[in-house]
Amino acid sequence: MLRVIILGAAAGGGLPQWNCACDVCQAARLGHRATPQTQSSIAVSADGAHWVLINASPDIRQQFAATPALQPQSFPRSSPLSAVLLTNADVDHIAGLLSLRESQAFPVYASGRVQRVLEANAVFNVLDRQQVARRTLTLDQPQPVLDANGADTGVRVEPFTIPGKVALWLEDPHAANFGSVPEDTIGLALSAVGSRSRLFYLPGCAALPDDIKARLRPEDSLLFDGTTFTEDEMITCGVGHKTASRMGHLPMSGEGGAIALWQDVPLARKLFIHINNTNPVLLADSPERAAIVAAGWQLARDGMEFCVE
Ligand code: MLT
Ligand code: MN
Ligand code: ZN
Repeated sequence: MLRVIILGAAAGGGLPQWNCACDVCQAARLGHRATPQTQSSIAVSADGAHWVLINASPDIRQQFAATPALQPQSFPRSSPLSAVLLTNADVDHIAGLLSLRESQAFPVYASGRVQRVLEANAVFNVLDRQQVARRTLTLDQPQPVLDANGADTGVRVEPFTIPGKVALWLEDPHAANFGSVPEDTIGLALSAVGSRSRLFYLPGCAALPDDIKARLRPEDSLLFDGTTFTEDEMITCGVGHKTASRMGHLPMSGEGGAIALWQDVPLARKLFIHINNTNPVLLADSPERAAIVAAGWQLARDGMEFCVE
C-alpha cells in the first residue's frame, strides 16, 4: 500500500499569495471560508519510513516543519527523504531544491528535458553532486525509485509525457507553443511494490487525450490539475490576461474541462490539486465547491493523508 501526504495543494503563489487581494486570498487571510495552502507537492511512501517527494515547492521548509513523517529520527543528522521526483521545471516545482542543500544524500529523478534545465542553471549546484545524484527517468516504463545508495524505497513509478507547456520562465515568445517539447511535463503513476492500485499524479495538464485516460484502471486514484475553475478566471478576476490553456492548464468546468473529461472514467478517488488562489472552489461555501463535490471530486488540502491500496 502507498501512503500519500499532501504537503501543498495550491498552485504557484500559494494561498494567500503575497500580493493578491482577490476574494479567496482575503478569505484565507481572515481564516474565514478558506484555509491557507502552500504550493503544490506531495510525499509518498511504501513503508512509512522512506519517503519520496514529488516536486520541490518553494514552501518546502514550512511543509517539512508541518509533517512529522519527514522529520529527522536519528542524531545528529538524517532524513526520511529518500528521493525527489520532478514532473516539470516550473518554479513552484523546482525552487524547493535549493532548500534541500545541507549535505544530505538523495537522488533527483526527472525527464531528460528537465534534467537539462537543472544542468543549465548553475544555482542548482548548491546540491553537491557527490550527495545528490541526478537520474533521468525512463518514460513509459515502470521502474523502482532507489535511494542515494541504490536501495529500493519500495515505491514504483511509471512516468509518461502529458500535454503541457514549457515552464513560464523558459518560454520562447517566438516559437510555436513557446518552445514546449513533450518531456516538459510528465505524469507519474506511483505505486507500492506488489500493489496493483496506483496513484496518478498530474498537477499540470493542458489537455486530456484518450490514451492518458486509458492508462487508469478503476482501482487507481487520481490527483489532477485544478488550477482554475473557468478558462478565463484570471481575466474575470482582474489579476491577469492569460486563459487557463495559455498557462498549460485545463479548467475544471465547461465542456472541455476536467470534470467533463474525467466523468466517464471510473476511479477509486479523484482529487484536484495545484489550485490557484483565484479558484472559487477554495471557498468552502461556494457553488463551485458544491459542483465539484457533486461530480465526485475532492479538493486536496495541506496535511491531507490517504492510502492507495
Ligand atoms: C504554472 O503552473 O502554470 C506555473 O507554475 C506558473 C508559474 O510559473 O508561475
Ligand atoms: Mn504551477
Ligand atoms: Zn488571490
